[in-house]
Amino acid sequence: MIEEPASVIRHPAETASILTYRTGVQDANPAGNVHGGWVMKLCDDAAVIAATRFARCRVVTATVDSLTFRSAVQVGDLLTLRATVNAAWRTSMEVGVQVESEHVPTGQITHVCTAYLTVVALDDDGRPTAVPQLVPISAEDKRRHDHANTRRKIRLAGAAELGSGRQ
Ligand SMILES: CC(C)(COP(=O)(O)OP(=O)(O)OC[C@H]1O[C@@H](n2cnc3c(N)ncnc32)[C@H](O)[C@@H]1OP(=O)(O)O)[C@@H](O)C(=O)NCCC(=O)NCCS
Repeated sequence: MIEEPASVIRHPAETASILTYRTGVQDANPAGNVHGGWVMKLCDDAAVIAATRFARCRVVTATVDSLTFRSAVQVGDLLTLRATVNAAWRTSMEVGVQVESEHVPTGQITHVCTAYLTVVALDDDGRPTAVPQLVPISAEDKRRHDHANTRRKIRLAGAAELGSGRQ
């Protein structure tokens, strides 16, 4: 028997997804570093993988919070993206993606950015559909869960202020 998604319980660790990518000249911007848009694309890929592991159905990215690049990525660096579902609501979920670069000659690891994406689960007809419950376990899970709920409140409040009902 297939369980109804809303009665299914999953934990953040079950959604943890790691994507590793070796950057190359094809990813460069005119300044010779890795194009930020490429890093954003990888964030979306990693978030969709984590969300798919959580929802076990097709998902789509609804929105991405503002993204700050803390450091440039050099062509040839390795990128590691770690994605986890932080919180889930009715049909949507927040996925956090942490991006680090690794400079191959020195092994130095640098925090590039952290992205928060809101991803929506879709049914076979492409309509939003209910997701399982996400139950945080560790203290870190609970911290991320609380922060995700706060960010959702801020998103919705910002959307209401703009009068669109959404961001
Ligand atoms: C995202 C999408 C499915 C939402 O459809 P919709 O008809 O507005 O659906 P709903 O009103 O039922 O909202 C569904 C969920 O999405 C959330 N959502 C939709 N737009 C949102 C936004 N801009 N910010 C935050 N959450 C959003 C809602 O809060 C709701 O979450 P909940 O059920 O957990 O409370 C639809 O807008 C869409 O398909 N957008 C295009 C997505 C896409 O193609 N992405 C890739 C671009 S290349």
